[in-house]
This record gives sequence, structure tokens and C-alpha cells, in this order.
Amino acid sequence: MYGNDFSGEDAPGGLLGEVEAAEAALRAAAERDRGAAGPGEDLAAYFAQVIDADQKIEPRDWMPEAYRRTLIRQIAQHAHSEIIGMQPEGNWISRAPSLKRKAILLAKVQDEAGHGLYLYAAAETLGISRDELVDLLLNGRQKYSSIFNYPTLTWADVGAIGWLVDGAAIVNQVPLCRCSYGPYARAMIRVCKEESFHQRQGYEILHVLAHGTPAQKAMAQDALDRWWYPSLAMFGPPDGDSTHSAQSMAWKIKRFSNDELRQRFVDMCVGQAEVLGLTIPDPDLRWNDERQAYDFTQPDYAELMQVISGNGPCNRERMAHRRHAHTEGAWVREAAAAYAAKQKNKEKVAA
Ligand SMILES: [Fe+2]
Ligand SMILES: [Fe+2]
Repeated sequence: MYGNDFSGEDAPGGLLGEVEAAEAALRAAAERDRGAAGPGEDLAAYFAQVIDADQKIEPRDWMPEAYRRTLIRQIAQHAHSEIIGMQPEGNWISRAPSLKRKAILLAKVQDEAGHGLYLYAAAETLGISRDELVDLLLNGRQKYSSIFNYPTLTWADVGAIGWLVDGAAIVNQVPLCRCSYGPYARAMIRVCKEESFHQRQGYEILHVLAHGTPAQKAMAQDALDRWWYPSLAMFGPPDGDSTHSAQSMAWKIKRFSNDELRQRFVDMCVGQAEVLGLTIPDPDLRWNDERQAYDFTQPDYAELMQVISGNGPCNRERMAHRRHAHTEGAWVREAAAAYAAKQKNKEKVAA
């Protein structure tokens, strides 16, 4: 019973159905009339028209400087999260309980590296280089998702990450498939399809443990207990405290508020936890008939702020590991640059 992971009723086929619909909308947007022949004199008015018509802004288009900066910040943060996010699970590759589990986890962690690369490439279309982006991460001026600063203590944590962390990522990212910036929207479609596999593999790990020995079930429950609230915190601060939301909504970068997405995630997880036979660690979780949604306890936002500001359980370890990998990889970058220069020179000689 792994097929209930996308039980959203808003679109046929659940969240993956929404990704398919967004993909179709992206194609339709490319053909839609922008309501104006071209940019003409007034670039800002043309930009607004493109956004209004639900068309895509492309790298060649004029865009407000703040729009560009917002997207760089958001896409970079997303790319960094994919790369740092390889660490907590990478930690279990050599200890996965079977060859099959090892192969699946290896593929999943490689996917995350791929997500990081598409996203760095998308950010580069906004006029910032990959080197600059990596520097901004390494010197702490750009952030990555708070969730990856929690430790993976047991094998069940790998299941909990797939189910809850990749699950929360999908809920966040499906609306980004309709983001107004073309390269980001297109990257998100592929990323969401791969994330759905990640979510299923995590759910399946927990399902096996939850139906195993009492010790295995207890391990699965313990992982849920530790990952539940940090996963809820992944949606960011509550709407009242969220600084970037209103403008991002107006630009159609963001389509739903943090609280709306968090609610959607909770509503999705409750039935899935029941199928697992595990208990979500929230005594106040209950169906609210009036709201047609679950009431739930909010995560500890003070803890979220602490983790974001560098004081989570593993922040220092994650950054130290990333810096070490960057230094160790210097020769690969140098070799790649030397090879590219050689190829360019060959072309020149041939011409
Ligand atoms: Fe990913
Ligand atoms: Fe993932």
C-alpha cells in the first residue's frame, strides 16, 4: 500500500496530476498571446502584461531588479538545499540494510545532486555565476533548508526523510511548476517527478519497518516523532511573520502562502500515517469539520529561527563537510576548465 501518497483531491491524479497539468499549462503559455505585440517603450508595463497573461518571463526579457534578486535568492537557496541535503542520507549509503536498499538510496542521493545542478543552471540564467553562488553558500551569506541540520540517527530516519522531507518538498514545489520565471518552472517539473519517487521510497521503508518486529516498529515511530515538527517548519514562518510572501505572490513566483502549504501537507500525511500504523506526535491533531481540514500543533518557530541562524544540531558539521568537499574537488574544477580551454583553442585553430 504505497499508492496513497498523493491523495490530493484538488486535481485528478493528486499532486503528480498537478505536475502534469502544469506541464501542459507551460506549453499553452508559450503559445498564448501576451496581449501586446512586444515590449515597445514601456518595459515595466510589458513585464506586468506577461505576468498577468500567465505567460513566462524568460532570461532574454527585461525584469525588475527586485524580481531578479528575489529569484536568485530563492533558486540559490533551493539549489544549496539539494546539495547539502545529500549529507544526512549519504551518511546511510554504506550502512543501508541490503544491496537493493543501497542501490535505491544511492540513486536517490544522486538525484538530489542533479536537482542542485539544474537549479544552479536556472539561477545562472539570471546573471550570476555558479562560482559566486557556491561562494555565497560557503561564506554563509546564502542559506539552505533548515531541515538538513538535523541528524539521521537510525535507518528509519532515511524512511522518514523520504516520506516527510521529500513529501513536504513536493507540496512546496508543485505550485512552483507554475512559477512565472520559465527556467525555474521547467526545472521544477522534472524535479517534482523525481521527488515523487523519493517520497515513495521513504514511505516504503517506513511501511516495511512499521510492519516488522516490535523493535523495528518502535524505530519507525521514533523517526516520525523526531522528524514531524522539523518537517512542518520546512514551510517557513507563519504567514504573519513571513517577509517575502506578498511581493512573491504578486509576481506569481509563489502561489500559496506558507500556512496554506503547511495545512495541505498535514492533511495529506494523516491518512498516510494511519496506513503505516504510526502515530503523528500531536495530541491536538483532529479533523475540523467546519474548516474541512485538520487542526494541528504548530512547530516551534523559535527553534526554526535558531536553526536558520546556524545553531541547529548539525549546522557546523554540514558546512564543514561541504567546505572540505569543495577544497578536495578543486583539482576536478581545474581539470575541467583546462579541458574546456583546450577544446576552445582547437576550435579556433580549426576555424
Ligand atoms: Fe531534490
Ligand atoms: Fe528528493
